[in-house]
Amino acid sequence: MTPQRGGIFFIPRSNPPGNPHFVAGPHPVIASAPGICQNSPVTNKFYAPGQSRAARVNDLFAAIAPRYDLINDLQSFGLHRHWKRRLVRLAAPRTGERALDLCSGTGDLAFALARKGIAAVGLDFSEPMLAVARKRLQSSSSGSTRPVSFLRGDASRIPFADASFDIVTIGYGLRNLADWQMGLGEMNRVARPGGRLLALEFGKPDNPLWRKIYFAYLRLCVPLFGRLFCGDADTHGYILESLSHYTAQNGVATAMRELGLRNVRILNFLGGVMSINYGEKPRTGT
Ligand SMILES: C[S@@+](CC[C@H](N)C(=O)[O-])C[C@H]1O[C@@H](n2cnc3c(N)ncnc32)[C@H](O)[C@@H]1O
Repeated sequence: MTPQRGGIFFIPRSNPPGNPHFVAGPHPVIASAPGICQNSPVTNKFYAPGQSRAARVNDLFAAIAPRYDLINDLQSFGLHRHWKRRLVRLAAPRTGERALDLCSGTGDLAFALARKGIAAVGLDFSEPMLAVARKRLQSSSSGSTRPVSFLRGDASRIPFADASFDIVTIGYGLRNLADWQMGLGEMNRVARPGGRLLALEFGKPDNPLWRKIYFAYLRLCVPLFGRLFCGDADTHGYILESLSHYTAQNGVATAMRELGLRNVRILNFLGGVMSINYGEKPRTGT
């Protein structure tokens, strides 16, 4: 790892041959993933199934990075801050623990975990998003009492050894991975026995009418933020496109159980519009 200014470290895009932490996909442990709509037609230029998925996602976050935080506040009416606080409370950080936040973006969750007094690492593959995190790190506004560092790297091939972290989080990230099962498998791999895994993400409400209303908001209103602030409606039309192809909270809970996690829970907000998936890696011998 080569240190860069502002606490950012650069991780090579691809793992060197023979890296023992490389996990080839699709992840072998997870057998089923209900709720995926593999066959929906794709209409958004930032969503590409298959090999070019990551490159398009990278283009997307390069385009929106400077406005990401502002639009997040506007489109969620500020509620994403509340949901992130709930995630950190649920993670229950304890003195001396270490946390890894995947797809850390501009750093909200990494900073929030560090404010609880634990060391936190944020990992993201978008340099422009990391640049915003770096600015926040240099200013005093993050208010962290413990060290926070940011690494450039791929959440599907986490550049850390097995059992390195007590808490592994991902906020609005799993939906963006080319292979979310592989990402979840990686989260499990780097968690210590007894460690907690948490994923905050857009959900799919069970109630069909509520789901229709919410999807209408994502289809008709949210793209306007993209058009207004980024000059491109597709940047935020991407949310509905990617969500339509994603398993969401129920599928992630099933996958967590299949991985052998304990105390698997779903916290739904606003009738399932937003959700947190929670699971604990079993302690050895339990
Ligand atoms: C919607 S943002 C979420 C940012 C932040 N976690 C939050 O909650 O506000 C998604 C982030 O995931 C990152 N990302 C997407 N795919 C990734 C991957 N395979 N590896 C690392 N980061 C990835 C993007 O660069 C982007 O910063």
